[in-house]
Amino acid sequence: MDDQNRDVHQKVEELLSRMTAEEKVAQMVQVSYSLVTKEEALHWAALGAGSFLHVLGDDARALQQAALRSRLGIPVLFGIDAIHGHGINPNATIFPTQLATACAWNPTLAREIGRVTAREVATDGLHWTFSPVLCLGRDARWGRVDETFGEDPYLAGELGAAIIRGYQGESLDGDESILACAKHFIGYGEAVGARDACDTEITNRKMREVFLPPFIKAIKAGCASVMTAYGSIDGTPLTASREILHTILRDELQFDGFVVTDWDNVNSLIMNQKVAADIGEASRMTACAGNDMIMVSTTFYDAALELLRQKKLEQSVIDDAVRHILTVKFRMGLFEHPEKKGKPGCIGSREHLEIALQAARESVVLLTNHNTLPLRKGIRKIAVIGPNADDIRAQYGDWTYFTHPTPKPDYVPMRPYRTLLEGIRDLAQPQETQVVYHLVCGVLPETEDDLAGAVEAARGSDIIILAVGDNIALHGETRDRADLALSGKQTQLFQKLHELNIPIVTVVISSKPLCLGVVAEQSDALIMAFNGGMFGGQAVAEVLFGKLNPMGRLPISIPRHSGQVPVYYNHLPGWHGGKYADLPADPDFAFGQGGSYTCFDYRNLRFDPVTFTLQIEVENKGPMAGVETVQVYIHDCVASVMRPVKQLIAFQRVGLAAGEAKTVSIAVDPNELALITQDEKRVIEPGEFKLMVGHSSRDEELLAVTFQYGD
Ligand code: BGC
Repeated sequence: MDDQNRDVHQKVEELLSRMTAEEKVAQMVQVSYSLVTKEEALHWAALGAGSFLHVLGDDARALQQAALRSRLGIPVLFGIDAIHGHGINPNATIFPTQLATACAWNPTLAREIGRVTAREVATDGLHWTFSPVLCLGRDARWGRVDETFGEDPYLAGELGAAIIRGYQGESLDGDESILACAKHFIGYGEAVGARDACDTEITNRKMREVFLPPFIKAIKAGCASVMTAYGSIDGTPLTASREILHTILRDELQFDGFVVTDWDNVNSLIMNQKVAADIGEASRMTACAGNDMIMVSTTFYDAALELLRQKKLEQSVIDDAVRHILTVKFRMGLFEHPEKKGKPGCIGSREHLEIALQAARESVVLLTNHNTLPLRKGIRKIAVIGPNADDIRAQYGDWTYFTHPTPKPDYVPMRPYRTLLEGIRDLAQPQETQVVYHLVCGVLPETEDDLAGAVEAARGSDIIILAVGDNIALHGETRDRADLALSGKQTQLFQKLHELNIPIVTVVISSKPLCLGVVAEQSDALIMAFNGGMFGGQAVAEVLFGKLNPMGRLPISIPRHSGQVPVYYNHLPGWHGGKYADLPADPDFAFGQGGSYTCFDYRNLRFDPVTFTLQIEVENKGPMAGVETVQVYIHDCVASVMRPVKQLIAFQRVGLAAGEAKTVSIAVDPNELALITQDEKRVIEPGEFKLMVGHSSRDEELLAVTFQYGD
């Protein structure tokens, strides 16, 4: 233990020794401001509640004052879902969602987003964000795919660690640092049938191999808190699993922060998962499993005290939980500075908006382009059609003031955001180009449509920009989808427009990969924009007009059909026939794919198995400067357990001027070659490995060399 940790340890033990049982249990309670009255909240603060969530500004300050006036004056920790920006504050900077951010494959950008978000959250006096989500988006039907960094453990781990470093800054006690929370521990996105919070059928071996790695990186990055998942693994709720929360998270991964349950998980053990008959049993299970802070389930307070009185719960279990919470509170300097300072005036500042714009620009993925983009100069008439062309709510996606803590769909958002329509109007030259707009239909089947009106609006135009996708009614918690096809009449809309024989550029603004069918096949160009945040529309417009050379790469596969799901690239081999009788095996668009207005040529792949460094020449063969993401995959040719056909182990972005060639050198971490043996040990088995390097996960875009590892 170093001096600083010894000091914190002494302070924690000293404070703990002065606390009553009531004060200790209260520290474990996290109250949601959205569920109680102001008076109730003040009462909880006076009792010594450890934390509140979803409270902003002066209300938070009043609660903090009440906590400071309590007998021991332990400051309250304020948590918030600042998921893609401090989105619950209507004045905040809204970044692209995690999935959209992941398209940039840029850890430096992720760190910047974390830093700016932390600064805005801290400026509101708050301390802690429930971010990042490190679940994997392997089944696109899941309602929360937008919250993930995509389907790949390596990419999610790199981006997760980077954003955590951004949130937490150099040190937890910094004026602009906030606590991060790696969630949801664990396997949440893998629920059977993508049914949110349902059981997950994964073994511990698979959990270690696929789902733990991003959390391992998060813990290495110093993540101060971890949130338990709603779901269960093989019939044991994660909230009640001492093996997961204690043996694995604490003993094995050496996590030294505190664990918070997800929303009302204690009652879920009774009401949904039915492994506890009453609040006493549920509270005992939750505490004994290793949850330190109890989100929302305030009945835990009386129940835990009763359990202590009846000696059905050991005092040491409560002490350990409080120890974990107080340790973080001391480490972050909360006792000296109960309120974070942040940087007054920074919320939604120009500097922050610039980073949101940069993030939006880097997140745009060009999927197809049949000599259509960038738009040629002197276009007479552009028809902008479709439900998501001018819908800022759809562009933002989940987790902003439109949706949380209570939905406010009619809220008038703060400027300056830019929808796609606005972005196009900004860039089209009014003297030469007319921009017409027609909303046509919603994304929901029951919404009114006006397909004929759309066709009339588009008739006579030189180009149609069609914005399709989903909106918040079709994703988020409790909104899993069975069918990933474009909803409502969006496909018919495309078909009607296609009959006009006018080139169509389709822009997909959605929370997740959607199965696009003919729209993908027949569009003259196709752009995947996901939820680009405040400037998502502007970034796409810049791509359309050639002011921005697209550089995004898919962090997730786009299936051809819902029946193909899951269709992630890093699957295990062995499928007899290797395809469906009625569909190919591969997705419509593969992990890592993404086009550019220039093209990149790869040659001369070399790998040094001693230094574990590869070199490859990459040349920009096209007419425009561009950014390429060099992707590095590995395959372990023969191993004691089956290995993925390929798995990402490194990547590097490289900027190249028109005609420029560079030798890119990438150091690979040998630990990325490890597998988990049947007896759950992480080892690198000696033998032959195939290293693949190139533009995407598609075989035809990769160069390969083989090498021997070990004897
Ligand atoms: C979500 C968490 C979130 C929490 C607090 C839950 O429903 O699963 O991700 O942080 O609510 O809002």
